[in-house]
Amino acid sequence: MSFSKIIATGSYLPTGVVTNYDLAKMVDTSHDWIYSRTGIEQRHIAHSDETTCDLAEQAVYAAMESGRFDATDIDLIVVATTTADQVFPSTACILQERLGIRNSPAFDVQAVCAGFLYAIDIADKFIRTNCANRALVIGAETFSRIIDWTDRTTCVLFGDGAGVVVLEASGTPGIHSTHLRANGAYKDLLSVPVGVSRNFDQVINGSAYTQMQGGEVFKIAVKCMEQIAVEALEANEAAVDQVDWMIPHQANTRIITATAKRLGIPMEKVIVTINQHGNTSAASIPLALDTAVRDGRIKTGDTILIEGFGGGFTWGSAFLTF
Ligand code: COA
Repeated sequence: MSFSKIIATGSYLPTGVVTNYDLAKMVDTSHDWIYSRTGIEQRHIAHSDETTCDLAEQAVYAAMESGRFDATDIDLIVVATTTADQVFPSTACILQERLGIRNSPAFDVQAVCAGFLYAIDIADKFIRTNCANRALVIGAETFSRIIDWTDRTTCVLFGDGAGVVVLEASGTPGIHSTHLRANGAYKDLLSVPVGVSRNFDQVINGSAYTQMQGGEVFKIAVKCMEQIAVEALEANEAAVDQVDWMIPHQANTRIITATAKRLGIPMEKVIVTINQHGNTSAASIPLALDTAVRDGRIKTGDTILIEGFGGGFTWGSAFLTF
């Protein structure tokens, strides 16, 4: 049987940085409020002519520096994004053309902040069923484009960026399990309630903005992340102390610490990048993974528990050996 294994990681952050102090000049907020409620100190924001595909492309080049794959080796591209460059073709197809890859399947996945987990689940299944050998699995966002920068309740939370993992067929896992969930009953708690077939004029005039009931999202996120992490551990008959690293979606430090506490995972084993990146939606998990790989914390053979949560609501987990 084939499994999939991560052979390389990469990430890219736009050069523009907006600190909490910068935001305090734009809306009625303060560094202390933002930092104490969310753990965020700064976020990277794409330049006005920089797109989601631009960020994804740079993340792939960073992964290529590993020397472990060439673009021509890739036979599947899955991009998780909520902020695609165009209505169509998909960001994955635009990226495929730029990388000079021909004829591989390439498509986008939309599960907001849980998108990367959906993408890795799909790519893992392609590889396990011998439909692909080497996949680019990308989370990339220019979330700043769907934020109302005059709304202090949302604009302090989000940022832009991209991260990628390269999955390759392997005789041993790799990815041991993935679990995905969604519950559309919560669709109105976190949304951009306009799109192509509904109130498209708001998209055209640039007022398609994220709306959120923060307190409700917070409570449900903690419960769902705990539940899906427990499912991952049980499916693998793994004890909590077998987990070397937990990589949660980076939405809020208080959500991360509450989930870790409920699971009994000490914070020294939790990768936290939200202070530097903010919530980059589908990009947050691969950005955090690549950060910890590059700074030497995550090493080959480590056991990693990944969990994510996003609009929909959608949520999921992955349990893997790096
Ligand atoms: N600066 C200063 N004050 C702010 C503010 C800001 N940026 N944003 C909101 N406030 C105010 C509110 O207006 C409210 O004032 P009031 O009491 O006078 O009405 C007060 O702060 C408390 O607001 P509240 O929403 O209760 O704060 P909170 O402790 O719930 O924190 C969030 C707000 C958004 C940080 C928190 O709910 C959260 O992180 N939720 C999850 C969001 C999330 O992760 N979304 C993405 C999921 S993928």
